Amino acid sequence: MIIRKLELKNFRNLDIAIEPSSGFNLILGQNGVGKSNLLDALYHLALVKSFKPYTSRNNVNFNSQGFASIKAELDQDGLSKELKIVFSVNEDSERKRLEVNSKPTTRSRFINNLTLILFAPHNTNLLVSTPDVRRSELDDFGSAVDFKYAMKLAEYKNVLRTRNSLLKVVSEGFGKLSELDYWDNKLAQLGGELVILRQELFMLLQPLIKELSSKQFDTELSNIVINYESKMKGDDPVKIMSEKITLNRNKEIGAGQSLYGPHKDDFNISSNEKDLKLYGSRGQQRIATLLLKLAMWRYLEQLKQVKPIILLDDAMAELDDENRLKLQDILSGLKAQTFIATTHKEDYSTKLLKKMQIITLD
Ligand SMILES: Nc1ncnc2c1ncn2[C@@H]1O[C@H](COP(=O)(O)OP(=O)(O)OP(=O)(O)O)[C@@H](O)[C@H]1O
Ligand SMILES: [Mg+2]
Repeated sequence: MIIRKLELKNFRNLDIAIEPSSGFNLILGQNGVGKSNLLDALYHLALVKSFKPYTSRNNVNFNSQGFASIKAELDQDGLSKELKIVFSVNEDSERKRLEVNSKPTTRSRFINNLTLILFAPHNTNLLVSTPDVRRSELDDFGSAVDFKYAMKLAEYKNVLRTRNSLLKVVSEGFGKLSELDYWDNKLAQLGGELVILRQELFMLLQPLIKELSSKQFDTELSNIVINYESKMKGDDPVKIMSEKITLNRNKEIGAGQSLYGPHKDDFNISSNEKDLKLYGSRGQQRIATLLLKLAMWRYLEQLKQVKPIILLDDAMAELDDENRLKLQDILSGLKAQTFIATTHKEDYSTKLLKKMQIITLD
């Protein structure tokens, strides 16, 4: 899968048109010129969302209220496809229009026309970040694997919001308990289904991460295991969740919010049965995260029979010289279209630099 052309209009601080190379592209520039924004534009084309965990929803340049757009021409096995997102803002809302080949389409038809994997600074600290950052990583991957995951997640979040408001009202002595029964069932059903999807993702990632680890970084991490942490794990997550909620109704009413479900899930990566979050060096934590990302890439490649595009947001800055070279070797081996944002091209080997198309932002 290759992006032939990319055109950004009024997208945050960017107004550019580029024709990237089908191999390595180095997006070069000082701090604040918009390198991450460019990668984020590509991320939008894949998942209709930003990769920045806490970004504002404002994608339109704040000096020119009105419209912004991201447009790309893709090439997949000789077939070309045009993807476009148009953002329009007014005082209190931001709308998106999605188009494939100039025809308006729905989010479900738009998502995953472009498949990509991102390595960003917030990923390098993934293992020691807060659980919500890891969940969001997992959810973006789940959505890239299958749009059903994104739909299920959105539905679950809606039900969770409604149930939380109701629990709050009930905890204040208002609201009907009978109404809660309905939302309990809905939450358990959707939550359990989401846990099933997550269990599947971990089952498929585990052998890949193990294989990559022994091939690429054998001296550093042995017996690498990715562990899904969920109180709802098991053969029948819907039933487990339903029982948990019933058993803890008073506790949840007391708290005025939903205390059980996949919105509390997490995962860890261990080596020789030691959780790397607690026992790993910073270097090992980073390598484990890289392995996870590479496993995700491999998984998407096998599933979709395309080479997912790779986005690297200054990832080299966090690695030592040896691991930098190793990562560059691995990336070269994947033979995927790659976009690397950096302030320092010296972080890359001359061998790789020779193969790169340099896109300078200022
Ligand atoms: N809606 C917007 N309109 C205009 N400019 C915006 C908007 N949102 C963000 N920006 C600008 O985008 C810039 C940040 O861009 P970005 O994070 O892509 O920079 P970067 O090149 O990745 O920097 P760094 O090297 O520090 O990572 C900031 O200067 C910010 O003011
Ligand atoms: Mg940046």
